Formats: sequence, structure tokens, C-alpha cells
Amino acid sequence: MKKRILVVSSANMDFVMNVSRLPFPGETVIEKGEYELIPGGKGGNSALAVERLGGDCVFCAKLGRDANGEALRALYASEGINLSALRSTPDAPTGLAAITVENDGTNRISIFPGANAYLNSDDAEEALLCYPDALLMQFEIPDEAILTAAHFAAKKNIPIVIDAGPARPDFPFDRLPPLEIFSPNEVETEIYTGINPNSADNALRAAVALQKIVKSHYYVIKLGNRGALVYDGKYYNIASPYEVKAVDTTAAGDSFTAALTLEYLRSGNIMRAARYANAVGAMVVSRLGASSSIPNEKQLSEFIAARGIEL
Ligand code: RIB
Repeated sequence: MKKRILVVSSANMDFVMNVSRLPFPGETVIEKGEYELIPGGKGGNSALAVERLGGDCVFCAKLGRDANGEALRALYASEGINLSALRSTPDAPTGLAAITVENDGTNRISIFPGANAYLNSDDAEEALLCYPDALLMQFEIPDEAILTAAHFAAKKNIPIVIDAGPARPDFPFDRLPPLEIFSPNEVETEIYTGINPNSADNALRAAVALQKIVKSHYYVIKLGNRGALVYDGKYYNIASPYEVKAVDTTAAGDSFTAALTLEYLRSGNIMRAARYANAVGAMVVSRLGASSSIPNEKQLSEFIAARGIEL
């Protein structure tokens, strides 16, 4: 039976600009590269990853009633995502992310939340009626929706996974019930703890410091091309990275956490799940865009076989 993951989170249309460099203030640069509209949003990317990797995703998000909203809804439907909790509002446009991608794959993202800011506690509460095996969330939606979903899940003993992006040091962490997995990336880790996880020692120090911010069974720090550190409050381990040529890191973290959640539910083994998620992340950074870069199960199996990866 497929594992059901409820993603309560954001949906954006990404306006992706491939730039040779960022302009200086007041400067205009004529670019030779392309721009594209690509479905994204941390929640949308995670939802697609869950479904493509063989999970059963129920996606709770809010779209605007506009062309971008229609395009996102059509994509999710075509991928088989359960849309019973996908809502729309006439009060705001669909969320938009303006993303610049430089030649080395570095991205910079500005988000215009639009309809995401209208996802509310009622939406989150209703969504929990789908009896998921896990709840996955990020921080691109209102705090109250996150807290309501978390408390309903906790009441039903549904494991809660929070991908801590974008960094929200002002989030009321003290109002969250205990989590199963809390997973920030390097930048978020430094913002939350003041410790740059630039070495294994520092990553461990940061993981220990995260315990004071949020209670979780596991802390999984995404370390980019250095893999991921997994800490259970006592012991730590590093899931090694798989080397690829980075084209665009957009959605790597979102897909990593979705894959981590799914494989953790399937195997019950957090290290196996982290290695699996690393493989997904590696594939995502080697391709352009958010939703367009997320592999399906077959593509991932081929990558795993070709690299001789042992999970
Ligand atoms: O994590 C990448 C995502 O962040 C993009 O798809 C963008 O929409 C923002 O939500």
C-alpha cells in the first residue's frame, strides 16, 4: 500500500531567469539566456516529489483564480495528486517566485505569497481528515495554518515533518507539538542557530542547538554538496552526497525532504531515507527548474543503479 503524505504548504508559479550575473544597483544587463514560467512553491515541489516517487500525496494549498492557478491545478491533476484539499481564493493572485539562476547553479528567490497567505486553520483542519501516514509542511504559509495542522496531526499520532524553509526565526516554535523530523538547509540552520554548519563538527553543534528551538525525534541538516547530517538527540551520522554537475539548486531541498519523509515511512530507517533523499537531491540539482527537475521512481532507480548506490 502506498504511503499517504499530506503536504500542507505553498504553491507558486516560478518566473525563472537564467542570468550570467546579477546587475549592480541601477545597472541594466541584457541577457542572452532564457526565462521560463515553471510550476514551483516549496509545497508544490514536495507534493510532486512524493507522487513521482511512488507516494500518495494529498496537497493542501491555496491558489488564486487566475491563469497561473489553473496551470498549477492542471499539472497536479495530471500527476495524480489528490486535490481534495486544494483550495482557491478570489482575493489574491497565485503565489509567484522570482528566481535568478546563475551559471554555477546558484539561485536567488524572492517570493510574492499571494493566495498562499490565505491558507487558514479551517483549510488545514479539513485536510487532516484524509488520514495521512505523515504530515509535511514548510514555512511559506501562515503560522496559524501550520500550527493547526500540527496539533491535529499530533492528536492523531500522525508523524510531523517540517522542512524549515524559508528561514522563519520569528516562527512561534514553542507552540509546535513534538515533531518526527525537522530539516533545515545550511542557510536556515545558520539563521536559526547562529552556527554555520560548514564542517561536520559545526553541523553537529548546530544540530544540538536546534534542540533548544524545536523538539523533534530527528534533526536532518541538508548540507548541499556535502550530504546531510542526521542527529537523533544522542548520535549523529552523515549521509554522503552523490557528485553531479550543479545546474540549478531550485527545489533540491523540497524534493529532499519529501523523499526523506516517504522513504522513512516505507523503511522506518532514517539513514536509508537520508541516502535516498540525497540521490533525489542530486538529480534535482543537475536539472533546470523546480517541478521540471524532480525525477520519477524509474529515473531515480536508473540513477541509483548507474552510480552503484547502496541505500
Ligand atoms: O525551494 C524552491 C521553491 O521556493 C521555488 O519553487 C519557489 O517557488 C519557492 O517557493
